[in-house]
Amino acid sequence: MQSYVIEGGRKLEGEVYISGSKNASLPIIAGSILNGNISKLYNVPNIHDTQITLKILKLLGCKVKKNGKKIEINSKYINKKEIPEDLMRQMRSTVIMAGAIIGRFKEATFSYPGGCEIGARPIDLHLSAFKKLGINIEENSGFIRCSCDKIVGANINLDFPSVGATENIILATVLAEGITTISNAAMEPEIEDLANYLNKMGAKIEGAGTNFIKITGVKKLKEVSYKVMPDRIEAGTFLCAGAITGGNIELKEVIPEHITPALHKLQEAGCNIEIENRSIKLQAPKKLKAIDIKTMPYPGFPTDLQSIFGAVLATCKGTSTIVENIFENRYKYLYELQRMGAKITIEGKMAVIKGVRKLSATSVNSTDLRGGAALVLAGLSAKGTTKVENIEYILRGYEKFEEKLQKLGARIYIKNN
Ligand code: UD1
Repeated sequence: MQSYVIEGGRKLEGEVYISGSKNASLPIIAGSILNGNISKLYNVPNIHDTQITLKILKLLGCKVKKNGKKIEINSKYINKKEIPEDLMRQMRSTVIMAGAIIGRFKEATFSYPGGCEIGARPIDLHLSAFKKLGINIEENSGFIRCSCDKIVGANINLDFPSVGATENIILATVLAEGITTISNAAMEPEIEDLANYLNKMGAKIEGAGTNFIKITGVKKLKEVSYKVMPDRIEAGTFLCAGAITGGNIELKEVIPEHITPALHKLQEAGCNIEIENRSIKLQAPKKLKAIDIKTMPYPGFPTDLQSIFGAVLATCKGTSTIVENIFENRYKYLYELQRMGAKITIEGKMAVIKGVRKLSATSVNSTDLRGGAALVLAGLSAKGTTKVENIEYILRGYEKFEEKLQKLGARIYIKNN
């Protein structure tokens, strides 16, 4: 068990380089199963979740070479089609590997991912899409076995634009017979990144990034090299770290259009934002103004930044509101913020946050990946020494988090409990 110890109250200043996207890397690494060949991937963040995904690939029989942010995967020699249960439980998003394994081998076994910290997260949309593609699904004591003689393209309409289900359908149908369409598809940039990668290896995917995607099955895929897009959620997190500390920071290697809603909200709160190609400069005012946030599927305000903004709103002038529309259990961190003196009431999907002048430092507990990062931001702005416990959650998704914050002038250290 590790904790962060943060001496708060310092303005963050300087430049920070944004890492490759966690949520794009995971399906892209899974996609390397499909070509039965080499994938050279660049800009993959070295974090717990990518390490687990690579561990699964090795267990399936892939050869994996890692050199910093560059990873070379050779999927020619895969000899297992089962995702190990213990690894499946460590990371929910391993479910997207199922689509890639079935897509190539027409069979896959994995365990039911179950609930997680931020909600029930069922996979009914994934499974009903698989059935539409002619895949048989047998469920037995928590295990799901998928098999078929061939995958045949179909027209799939998603009841909700699920990111994971959209990715899983793409991965399962790139090598299918005929044409698959997905209507009400998720439009997140990570899906476009996955499609660009697969197209570079010879797939035929059109419309990724819109709500209608067409996949024309191809017979064979080839060797590929690909650079993963920057992490828009990490970018939003650092902008908020700048904002909450009254700082002045510059993000490098970021795609500004990917975080348009967050940029607008920060401007509304009083921050000055300057955008230039792949850089964003943020200058925060002495006191931020209250704002209202509603999470929505892309291009709406991302649920993954809801908690991060929640920390910022705790010290804004006036009363802010948050409505969380994507996950039903994403407010746990707010109870920890209350322990730091935040004035918050929660009713169902809505949280009302009355800004206080300063948060007070104390020991708090990370509740999930983004909730944990939110508490770090709260600690950076609070007066005194804050301890954020259970940072394993945070390390799942942020590369060199404390190092990057230290470079911006934060006093934050890891403590082994
Ligand atoms: C992905 C992201 C996660 C982000 C989320 C929403 C990755 C690895 N994770 O998660 O960081 O917060 O998108 O932007 O990319 N749902 C169902 N049935 C299904 C699938 C989903 O009811 O079969 C529900 C979920 O419970 C949730 C909502 O749909 O309430 C959104 O889930 P989804 O878009 O699938 O998110 P993930 O792909 O799990």
